[in-house]
Amino acid sequence: MMAGEAALAHARLPGAHRMPGANQLRIAELTSGSGLIGFHLLRIERNSSLMGLDIDPSARAVASANAERLGLSRRARFIRADMCSSNTENLLRRERPQLLVCNPPYIPEPPDGRIAVEAGAGPDGTAHLMRTLALARTIRPRAMALSWCSLSDPESVVLEAERNGYTLNSLFIAVIADGEYSGSVEGYLRTLPRAFLNSAPETLTAVAPDGSATFGYLLMSADFSRSEQGPKRKDNMASDQVRIICSRFARRGIASVTALEASFPVRVWLLDRWDEMRLRAFLHGSIPRTALRPE
Ligand SMILES: C[S@@+](CC[C@H](N)C(=O)[O-])C[C@H]1O[C@@H](n2cnc3c(N)ncnc32)[C@H](O)[C@@H]1O
Repeated sequence: MMAGEAALAHARLPGAHRMPGANQLRIAELTSGSGLIGFHLLRIERNSSLMGLDIDPSARAVASANAERLGLSRRARFIRADMCSSNTENLLRRERPQLLVCNPPYIPEPPDGRIAVEAGAGPDGTAHLMRTLALARTIRPRAMALSWCSLSDPESVVLEAERNGYTLNSLFIAVIADGEYSGSVEGYLRTLPRAFLNSAPETLTAVAPDGSATFGYLLMSADFSRSEQGPKRKDNMASDQVRIICSRFARRGIASVTALEASFPVRVWLLDRWDEMRLRAFLHGSIPRTALRPE
């Protein structure tokens, strides 16, 4: 969400948001799920509209109901669409969004087994992000807010954005423990040269004080803006810096992210198991007392 907020600033035309009705900022969110990122942006930017696309048949109904609840249905519409389809490309060509948002599935999928649609993202975990960047090459939004992680070839995602003429402006990192999906493919992840994870005791204790973690990894998101000068020079590229951050984390664990140096602002959080639980309770409603009662 922080990346989305930062990207809003780059997507706006100077002064446009002060003229209600005119120059409405068009946001398109790929893999929009329940719509929560888009809603957050609509609430910040009053003069904006949202088109959310998701392949899951229930996502459209859930997101539309959420829009009603939040009083945002006049500015938000949700469509069932596979982001790999030509339908998605046509919808985006018509919409001409200034801001493209994508928080997609990012778990690398072993060749012998597919992961649920909300998590699996091809052999190296970048399928949806690479498709988003291919669409950005055609649609040319002014700004993008993208999320990815250290398990799924993080350098390539940023490099592809840079090759398409986008500059990474700020990076947001959350250190997190393995979960249901990433944990289920741990053996496969350890065979991938570009999956960065760490299992040092200090990392495991930090991400899961209850002792439940097998490894820690980095969730990443960033805001990108279209650079009018085209692709950047080879030196000082954000993709190199992202690779260095991830490979240091894989070698040295949690200590490596306490003082990061980069040519762009970086903010780091620790999202431990308790935070994850609080987040789930916040998103899905309160936890029944019976669930908290000891056996
Ligand atoms: C990790 S969830 C993120 C949902 C939402 N962006 C959020 O932040 O809460 C990934 C979403 O991607 C959707 N998805 C997966 N493959 C897709 C595809 N090919 N086209 C469109 N949506 C897809 C899933 O249905 C799921 O809602």
